[in-house]
Amino acid sequence: MLAIAESSVLFGLAAFGVRVEVQIARGIPSFDVVGLAEAAVRESRVRVKSALAQVGVDLSEYRVVVNLAPADVKKRGASFDLAIAGATLAALGLVPQEALSGVLLLGELSLNGAVHRTRGALSHLRGAHERKVPRAIVPAGNAEEAALVAGMDARCVSSLAELLEVLSGRADASLPASRAREPAALLREDLSDVRGQPAARRALEIAAAGGHNLLMVGPPGAGKTMLARRVAGVLPALTAEESLDVIAIHSVAGLLASGGAPAYGERPFRAPHHTASDVALVGGGDQARPGEVSLAHHGVLFLDELAEFRRSAVEALRQPIEDGHVIVARAQVTARFPARPMVVAATNPCPCGYQGDASGRCGCSAERVRAYRARLSGPLLDRLDVHVVLPPVEVSHLQSTARGEPSAAVRARVEKARDAQRARYLAGETTAPTNVALGTRDLGRVCAVDEAGNRLLAAAVDRLGLSARAYGKVLRLARTIADLEGSTALSAPHLAEAIGLRVLDRGAPSASRAA
Ligand SMILES: Nc1ncnc2c1ncn2[C@@H]1O[C@H](COP(=O)(O)OP(=O)(O)OP(=O)(O)O)[C@@H](O)[C@H]1O
Ligand SMILES: [Mg+2]
Repeated sequence: MLAIAESSVLFGLAAFGVRVEVQIARGIPSFDVVGLAEAAVRESRVRVKSALAQVGVDLSEYRVVVNLAPADVKKRGASFDLAIAGATLAALGLVPQEALSGVLLLGELSLNGAVHRTRGALSHLRGAHERKVPRAIVPAGNAEEAALVAGMDARCVSSLAELLEVLSGRADASLPASRAREPAALLREDLSDVRGQPAARRALEIAAAGGHNLLMVGPPGAGKTMLARRVAGVLPALTAEESLDVIAIHSVAGLLASGGAPAYGERPFRAPHHTASDVALVGGGDQARPGEVSLAHHGVLFLDELAEFRRSAVEALRQPIEDGHVIVARAQVTARFPARPMVVAATNPCPCGYQGDASGRCGCSAERVRAYRARLSGPLLDRLDVHVVLPPVEVSHLQSTARGEPSAAVRARVEKARDAQRARYLAGETTAPTNVALGTRDLGRVCAVDEAGNRLLAAAVDRLGLSARAYGKVLRLARTIADLEGSTALSAPHLAEAIGLRVLDRGAPSASRAA
């Protein structure tokens, strides 16, 4: 007899529907899996046979052929086990075929019949919902994800015995308990903890308002890491769709199980170590996993000690940051992951960190400082829009009992500025919902500069030697500064502040310069 179950395979976050056909006949015992199945999929026969034996189904007198269709799509992973087992039960006449139609089956079996959680369940479920598959049965370990897809009847089982009960109509699969948590990180670390550093706070606010990437330069202990950790807290709340994207990426990376994923509604904060490999940063490897730049999608990618990162790794980040996605290729399979984080980088001004310090404690030779700076220049630096130099924290600020402005107040201004940008985008005035992504033609339309502004820009190009790219960045930043102010017009003060945020275009960063 022939029976059919529905499952799917993932390419990046995209789920591709797979029909699992099982043909069973009496004969010399065999169990074959065909249909462009990789090793882990072919091994499912061992797991499925053993798990079926646990519920009293003996296949020793049957010839079983499993066909995964369409045959031209590569099948990988162990998540077909449940569909293969379900279709086998139907082919044996132990459960009705109708119980399987319109139901996505997903999950890996262990030899004793337990159903293990699977990576990427949320992406499988969203894909099934798009294909108009109305129901799903997934591992109990994926309950959190099953609760997230609105309009999908997703249920959970924890063993093959339970699946058998459910498919034969003797029991209901359990409903996933919705564990949607309050977004916590926004409240955990607040800007009110940061003393002084007005220039850095202002730069952070502008960067967040326009989605610009931020570079902080300063001596050890000035608060760079502290500020970076608070960027996500001033960004607007995620939409439901954005939240699902974030969780889907962490699910594919296998980070949901370990608790290493943001809660629903929470923006991710990723801070890879400077020794991280190219693959760790951009993604790839045997399993085509997402890298840090994708895990930080919709959140913050913090590159601490930027000068210490390997050149090749930084180079590898360039393309994704520009394109907003990563394409990971491995034998015959390509996976596409979104990658639109806000990049926040931090560095010391010199190897010892105290270059420009009033105490004169910096002992770095001019040659060493030059070599250190040289590591900072180049492709990635070009993409860091806002530069800010942090002086050491003044002792009077540390001694003061006054707290800094809280994140919520800053977030309110950022949200307003972002609303203005979105309104222009929705009205068709621009091609991007945030200023950081404005195209050249957009700049002409929404960054019209008056005469005084033009004179200022001309002087900046002349004296500071701004490149054409830096010129465009100044315009985008000025647009954001005007949006924060609620101004539709771009005027000279906006441009002047924007030019001041491009310190590195003027050459060497130094703490004394900012003072
Ligand atoms: N502006 C500040 N306000 C209050 N506390 C601060 C400030 N700057 C630093 N600190 C204190 O110093 C600690 C170290 O700060 P942080 O790690 O942010 O420094 P950093 O600039 O990243 O230094 P490094 O260059 O060594 O990485 C913080 O945990 C905090 O306790
Ligand atoms: Mg630090």
